[in-house]
Amino acid sequence: MYYSDELIEEIRTKSDIANVISGYVKLQKKGANYWGCCPFHNEKTPSFSVSENKQMYHCFGCGVSGNVYTFLMKYENYTFPEAVKELAHRVGVDLPEVEYTEEQKARADKKARLLEINKEAAKFFFYQLRSPHGENGYNYLKKRELTDETMQKFGLGYAEKNGNNLIQYLINKGFPENLIIEAGLANHSERSGVNSLFWNRVMFPIQDANHRVIGFGGRVMGDGEPKYLNSPETPVFDKRRNLFGLNFARTARSGDMILCEGYMDVISMHQAGFTQAVASLGTAFTAEQAHILHRYTDTVLLAYDSDGAGVKAALRAIGLLRDEGMTGKVINMRPYKDPDEFMKNLGREAFEERIRDAENSFFFEIRMLETQFDTKDPEGKTKFHREIARKLCEFEEDVERDNYLQAVAEKYYIGVENLRKLVFNYATQTGAAKPLERPRNTNQAKATPEENGKKAQRLLLTWISDDADIYPKIKSYISLDDFTDELYKSVAGKLFESIERNEFSPAAIISSFQDEEGQAQAAELFNTNLPEEISGEDKEQAIHDIIMTVKKSSYEYYMSKTGTDINALMLAIERKKALETLQKTHISLT
Ligand code: GTP
Ligand code: MN
Repeated sequence: MYYSDELIEEIRTKSDIANVISGYVKLQKKGANYWGCCPFHNEKTPSFSVSENKQMYHCFGCGVSGNVYTFLMKYENYTFPEAVKELAHRVGVDLPEVEYTEEQKARADKKARLLEINKEAAKFFFYQLRSPHGENGYNYLKKRELTDETMQKFGLGYAEKNGNNLIQYLINKGFPENLIIEAGLANHSERSGVNSLFWNRVMFPIQDANHRVIGFGGRVMGDGEPKYLNSPETPVFDKRRNLFGLNFARTARSGDMILCEGYMDVISMHQAGFTQAVASLGTAFTAEQAHILHRYTDTVLLAYDSDGAGVKAALRAIGLLRDEGMTGKVINMRPYKDPDEFMKNLGREAFEERIRDAENSFFFEIRMLETQFDTKDPEGKTKFHREIARKLCEFEEDVERDNYLQAVAEKYYIGVENLRKLVFNYATQTGAAKPLERPRNTNQAKATPEENGKKAQRLLLTWISDDADIYPKIKSYISLDDFTDELYKSVAGKLFESIERNEFSPAAIISSFQDEEGQAQAAELFNTNLPEEISGEDKEQAIHDIIMTVKKSSYEYYMSKTGTDINALMLAIERKKALETLQKTHISLT
């Protein structure tokens, strides 16, 4: 916990959500709410609403919702404390110095010091590039057709031949040798002492999403090994969780992201106006990076090298994107090797066309698969078709799998029914996926009693938060122990308490959760749509039914716990009694 609940609330109530959001999204007032195009997914007609009453936002298109804090966290990629700080600053509330434990303090200090030293090093390289010592570097980048503006934007620099000038500079700035080494800027050897890692290279500062320099990539000018030298991982440089260019790409809002292999690719893409380009950090693309990209988009366009290694890397990335539930598309770079070369030769418009023509990642996979078989030979062809069937089984959803099945059958002249049979055989042999030809059961799998119970708990909370007047009428029938889901219990506690105090505010409850998951779930509770027309006796009946379900499921829950929990039996008996009473009781809401 960084700040007190009261302080968090004070800052939140002083900031008007519509005002804050209108700094990012064009909003128009319609009725009680403001409306605009959702900044979290790509849309042309406004389905993003901001309620001044509730001090919350909700998108009817993609389902995001939350309060002013979660908005900033999502939009600016802030952590909760960062969002608090930002808003406090805007509304002019002074935050107390945070009290850290000694260990936290040491860790935070260390990170802050490493970021400082990186910033100083970046400055040093930056000035070197623009000084007479840096002429070689500058000419090299010019030869690669980068404009001064681009070099400036990416903070490009130069590490001169005598790398120890950097060390001296940093020492003069007051950084100790061991910190310089820990920052990955130098290493230490018995024989020659502290030596700069980078010398005679053009330098690419690697920044995190908030523009802080976390590491460097250095390229030799011309041939030489290694071509790129990257900083080692440090407490601030996590190569799995950062992407080169993300600090700019995250606000590009083009509806997609372009994933490249190299730093130079990203830079020349940005120079050409494709500011949604990012690259992994000299290492293979990771699941973590896919997850990060998913915050900004559902669609990733792969702009990998067109050679064998590039294809292999693209296939890997496609798998990771699919696991993350994103759409991958592959941009054809031929006849050029990579985006950088493509851009130099064919330019922006040609690339835009390639984006439009980007290939669905599944077809790309199949096309690459095809090259491994001799499809002129019947046996090779059969094997190829079997492999297609195997790949089709990777789709979990029937409809999606069948859509792809039909499309791929058409494209490769395979009989649809034959391909279905292959998929069926493969699936039943391996249990890989539900066989397609199993009689379709249109009923969804029955929800478990536990799921039903949670659903009722959730619904009850939604009803109460929608109409706080319900609470006093039903409070004698429910208790916090009826909420068997920890999060719901916690929301219920806060909700009931705030209603008792007559200061109920959904937005306040959301920010009392400091982790994103908790906030998202709480926000969801307050935004589930309830049937609008329902009122009077129908409403009373509905609430009665929900409470019965909640009670019944909590009764079952505690019964199942009697073996391990000594209170469970008592709680179960209480519920049994309540159920009997409720059965005979009419809940009146008037
Ligand atoms: P240019 O050749 O300057 O156009 O760079 P590029 O970005 O096209 O490089 P390339 O496609 O060869 O490599 C892609 C990325 O892999 C680079 O941006 C680096 O991050 C990384 N990389 C390339 N070569 C090396 C190397 O020798 N060592 C390490 N650690 N990483 C490398
Ligand atoms: Mn290149």
